[in-house]
Amino acid sequence: MEASRDPDRARKLVVALDGPGSSGKSSVGAAAALRVGYRFCDTGLLYRAVTWLALARNISTSHPHAVRGLVDEVDLLPDQAGRLSRVLVHGQDHTDEVRGPEVDVAVSVFAAIPELRLALLERQRVLAAAGGMVMAGRDIGTVVLPDADLKIFLVASVEERARRRTEERGLDPQGPEAAAILDALRRRDELDSTRPVAPLRAAADARIISTDGNRFEDTVDAVVNAIRDVEARLAADPDRDPDREPKPEPSGAGG
Ligand code: C5P
Repeated sequence: MEASRDPDRARKLVVALDGPGSSGKSSVGAAAALRVGYRFCDTGLLYRAVTWLALARNISTSHPHAVRGLVDEVDLLPDQAGRLSRVLVHGQDHTDEVRGPEVDVAVSVFAAIPELRLALLERQRVLAAAGGMVMAGRDIGTVVLPDADLKIFLVASVEERARRRTEERGLDPQGPEAAAILDALRRRDELDSTRPVAPLRAAADARIISTDGNRFEDTVDAVVNAIRDVEARLAADPDRDPDREPKPEPSGAGG
């Protein structure tokens, strides 16, 4: 990979962090990025913001060019640590709204629109170009950044992910909203992994980290350790092409 010959890039990696909804990508990725001094980008926010705008304007998925046109109206906002984990629409922070249940239900149908994915592809690549970036999403290791220095795929059972999201929203775990969250996650998993363009799947060279039953800190440690490990290998041998490294063994969050 060309960028791995740049001495700066050998220390500051491009990290692709993929996984299904509520697998912890955003929170784990943001915490890990802070610890290693990297930037962070939650690409799901871009798909959510476009979906939110389309719903607000009654633009349906049968008008892909109109949906694609919404891309220019959304932007990501860095927090104080430089993490792109807030979304701006016309200069206003709408992060909480785009994480709402209506968007949860609709977003995967919009995210399957090839014109939309293409419009967001370049945006995401530009954000990662300088290195020192943890980019979270569904297709980062497979499509957006296939040359990433490190690819991580987080997995957790759908029940565990629904439980986390229910807890995050302060809802009754036995209530109807909890059941709706589980249904919506199952549906998103299905749509995200079966769409023809850029489906959700682990890259062949991704490290698989299972987060089921793990403490948040353990998963952050696993991601930080993986980053440090590749950084050290590149520092020891800056000419090494990480793409040619043997596929790493799958590991749990502790290792
Ligand atoms: O990560 P998050 O759950 O916020 O993503 C919302 C939705 O956006 C996903 O279910 C998926 O349909 C879409 N998405 C995507 N590609 C990405 C990031 C998100 O298709 N890189």
